[in-house]
Amino acid sequence: MEYVIRPFRPADTDAVVALWESCGLVRPWNDPRRDIARKLTVQPELFLVATDREAVVAAGMAGFDGHRGWVNYLAVRPELQGGGLGRAMMTEFERLLTAMGCPKLNLQVRAGNEQVMAFYESLGYAPDHAVSLGKRLIPDDGGPARDASVDDTVAANDR
Ligand SMILES: CC(C)(COP(=O)(O)OP(=O)(O)OC[C@H]1O[C@@H](n2cnc3c(N)ncnc32)[C@H](O)[C@@H]1OP(=O)(O)O)[C@@H](O)C(=O)NCCC(=O)NCCS
Repeated sequence: MEYVIRPFRPADTDAVVALWESCGLVRPWNDPRRDIARKLTVQPELFLVATDREAVVAAGMAGFDGHRGWVNYLAVRPELQGGGLGRAMMTEFERLLTAMGCPKLNLQVRAGNEQVMAFYESLGYAPDHAVSLGKRLIPDDGGPARDASVDDTVAANDR
């Protein structure tokens, strides 16, 4: 496979949403099309896809908040997983973030997706001694914005 990693283009939208769905990354409370629209307004150059003869085979969003870098929605087409694409995407995110002066990259792994830990550990990522908290500010699913609560930790992390 000869793939190219490049910034996302709006014409990639359907393919990227289908990829995220096929990888189980879409949740009812995260509208992927709204997430894409938002990302195109903030550091769109850090929203990458890998293509093989124009077909989207991997995608992921990164960002730098001035203190930490973040990666979300990293996905490789299921039949191509294990072939090095995920590593290549993360290497490119690290290159871009380092060039921006970002000193550390953080990411979250959803509860229930622990099998992905071996992937990140092989790239040098390790658990931080921190608890991840979240608070939804703009609900995408029509429901009210929800605060994180102790027994809602998993959902809050997801949202
Ligand atoms: C996670 C994901 C992006 C990894 O991409 P990938 O292309 O399959 O990973 P790579 O082939 O680049 O693997 C890189 C390294 O991680 C290791 N690795 C990957 N998946 C692994 C697994 N399940 N168990 C153990 N090691 C694993 C590989 O052995 C490889 O190590 P090596 O280079 O030393 O041989 C991909 O599996 C995916 O899309 N998963 C579904 C969506 C998802 O969970 N995304 C992450 C959200 S936090």
